[in-house]
Amino acid sequence: MMATNSVADRIIVPLDVPSMEDAIALLDRLPDVTFWKVGLELFVSAGPAILEQLKQRQKRIFLDLKFHDIPNTMAGACRAAGRYGVDLVTVHAPAGKVALQAAQAAALEGAAETGCPPPNLIAVTLLTSINPRTLAMELKVSLELTDYALQMALLAQESSLSGIVCSPQEAADLRRVCGDQFLLVCPGVRPTGVAKGDQQRAMTPAQAIAAGASYLVVGRPITQAADPAISFRQICDEIAGSRK
Ligand code: C5P
Repeated sequence: MMATNSVADRIIVPLDVPSMEDAIALLDRLPDVTFWKVGLELFVSAGPAILEQLKQRQKRIFLDLKFHDIPNTMAGACRAAGRYGVDLVTVHAPAGKVALQAAQAAALEGAAETGCPPPNLIAVTLLTSINPRTLAMELKVSLELTDYALQMALLAQESSLSGIVCSPQEAADLRRVCGDQFLLVCPGVRPTGVAKGDQQRAMTPAQAIAAGASYLVVGRPITQAADPAISFRQICDEIAGSRK
């Protein structure tokens, strides 16, 4: 598992903002956050310059661009991500084993080219926006949704990826099946007393860590709080307190 020094290092905050200016404002409001997620919206709008900003501030980076393409294209994207020295990169497991293996090998090559530590590739098993009905009726997948997600997790593991993105509800089972070294990165976390919003199947941060999550992605409970820095600290304290 990736080295983690403290509870704070296990909480990833998404830069879910539309522009570089907004991203920098959020970075300035949350100086204690060590690990940031850059997703499609910000990357498309601000480009790789946002990664430079994060590197200058010595932050760890989760590049959440969810690559899904033919093996050659996945490899090219992951090689480029490897050159940046990002820490986590997402790909879609249903791209298949050949593409996942090519992506993994290329990420290592990219990192070696610039002398950066290699990124950990993690797979999205199934988007949480896909419900059982959509899976069966639109995507024509005959497996139960939880079985399908598990099969995709195993495919990621067989393809030598470092881990997966999963719901905290699935973390305990996946930890048992996939072992201690597999990274489980869990969004859908809501601290005690915070509105669940569109994350219907939320767990608290302490519950998610206890269930086996390696990292938590916590967005709006921190970024939309009256005081984001206090909210971040409270979440860290809640986890640390529950582990004593
Ligand atoms: O604000 P909130 O805590 O819901 O943000 C969660 C973050 O994790 C968002 O960036 C969202 O896109 C991402 N995410 C998610 N559910 C998934 C995968 C990613 O909420 N299944």
